[in-house]
Amino acid sequence: MSSKDNFKIMNSSLIDSAMLLVGRVMEKSALKMPRSPRVERVSVEIAGLAEAFDGFTICQITDVHYGRVIGSNFLHKVIETANALSPDLTVLTGDYIDEGSSYIEPAIEALSKLKARHGLLSVLGNHDHFYSKERTTDMLAKYKVPLLDNSHAIIEHSGRAICVAGAADYLYDCPDAAAAFAGADQDVPRILLSHNPDFAETLDQNLKVDLVLSGHTHGGQIRLPFSYAPLLPSRFGQKYSGGLVNIRDEHPTQVYVSRGIGVCFIPIRLNCPPEITLLTLRAAPEEKSDWAPRIVKFTEAV
Ligand SMILES: [Fe+2]
Repeated sequence: MSSKDNFKIMNSSLIDSAMLLVGRVMEKSALKMPRSPRVERVSVEIAGLAEAFDGFTICQITDVHYGRVIGSNFLHKVIETANALSPDLTVLTGDYIDEGSSYIEPAIEALSKLKARHGLLSVLGNHDHFYSKERTTDMLAKYKVPLLDNSHAIIEHSGRAICVAGAADYLYDCPDAAAAFAGADQDVPRILLSHNPDFAETLDQNLKVDLVLSGHTHGGQIRLPFSYAPLLPSRFGQKYSGGLVNIRDEHPTQVYVSRGIGVCFIPIRLNCPPEITLLTLRAAPEEKSDWAPRIVKFTEAV
């Protein structure tokens, strides 16, 4: 046997050992997926919110990544928990599946069972583009889940209204907030669904967006001491690792980033439990002298 053959055998056994090790780590890591989602209750103050909407609740579900790790049992637990919150509105902010387009239909069919007084609204995320924007869009239509693709819906409640718009995905599509809000009354509070929170940084101040609801970063999935998330897919460092962020003073725009439900790339969540969010809208006091950029974190040890 030549030294070249010896090298090949040694190399292949090293690769086998490395693969085995990765497999064992993945297997053990899967056990770190918490068994149930955590409900985060968040109050969001919005200037000019009509009394009719003071206390209006929005349930946000994002980044389900339905597939082998997040299976049907877990997804049904998520839906049951969300429905038990009896929200006024439920929003889905993208990344519905993982691992293959065969998961699209069962994921959307299950999510279409989410219930809310004013129904369900959705946008797409980057993973929905990886696997098939067309099929995801078709399935949302089939199961009657309205998709906001640079468009908006007006929610009327006790004679008053809010506008909920949805942006196309920031990484794989052409999000256009101006088009999304086109024709909406400027005096009506404005909420934007955008899978990726980085898009909030590009918003024109004149659009007067009050609140952006996002996911995408998964809270980093792994949170080290001091809540540091080393793997965060955002151009803005830790800013959008989870929680409520106030990004503007002149017309305050707040961004809520959910940790989401599922995982991608690595089946691990460490100190970063899956999240169902229940946001309660509150009328902001007239005087906002203490209004300052702030970040509120919700991540705690599991
Ligand atoms: Fe995601």
